[in-house]
Amino acid sequence: MTEWFETWFDEDYARLYAHRDAEEARVALGRAMRVAPELTQGPVLDLACGAGRHLEILRRANPLAFGMDLSRPLLQMAPGGLRPWLLRGDMRQIPVKDGTLHGICLWFTPFGYFSDEENRALMMRLGALLENNGVLVMDYLNADLVARTLVPEETVERGVIRAQSRRSLEGDRLVKRMVLTRTDTGEVRDVLESVRLYHPTDLQEMAVRAGLRLRRVMGTYAGEAFTDDSPRWIGVFEKAW
Ligand SMILES: C[S@@+](CC[C@H](N)C(=O)[O-])C[C@H]1O[C@@H](n2cnc3c(N)ncnc32)[C@H](O)[C@@H]1O
Repeated sequence: MTEWFETWFDEDYARLYAHRDAEEARVALGRAMRVAPELTQGPVLDLACGAGRHLEILRRANPLAFGMDLSRPLLQMAPGGLRPWLLRGDMRQIPVKDGTLHGICLWFTPFGYFSDEENRALMMRLGALLENNGVLVMDYLNADLVARTLVPEETVERGVIRAQSRRSLEGDRLVKRMVLTRTDTGEVRDVLESVRLYHPTDLQEMAVRAGLRLRRVMGTYAGEAFTDDSPRWIGVFEKAW
């Protein structure tokens, strides 16, 4: 069975989320590198790096930073200079030796895509991949805010894409069903996003099991403190030993 995340992250995703751009990545990484200077040295993985908007900036500070993503179309959109530093593959099978990474970043919610069991296994693996004192930056949504302010129906138009979305909470997942229309060609397709909603305490508990200790939580890419109304939940963890 083909999973939603195998097909959705393509050129249409890039068009619809074009506002998630290099400037946002620059602000986020600038703050993250101050909170976690470990990111600036040694092997650091930008996991689910997409078209490399964060990796491009990170590599200016750290020439050993590299990225991994499942999406061929997004990887092909990455700047040519990043090519040697990009791996294609599933994050459930990261081809890296345990205990070797100085840092791992997951930018813009690439966590919670799988079953609860697989998500937990992924967190365990992230902990195992880090060397002692290594850092994990987990940029995730604010699950309570999402549940509290859910907009059930919405239409947005970005460039040549019109997206009619229906959002719902299904069990412990946020599910977004979209009908995408190419306004230039009239082409229509259906896509799905389905993300397990984890509360900050769930994430912290999972991280502790993986040998990680919370260093800082931020609620915005600019580094503001996390509150109930924060748009993001950005946890910076360190491997405790
Ligand atoms: C919301 S996007 C974030 C992309 C990027 N971090 C950014 O901020 O622009 C999620 C990313 O996760 C990638 N992804 C989804 N499932 C994956 C998997 N099983 N293994 C590796 N990457 C995956 C997608 O291809 C996509 O690039």
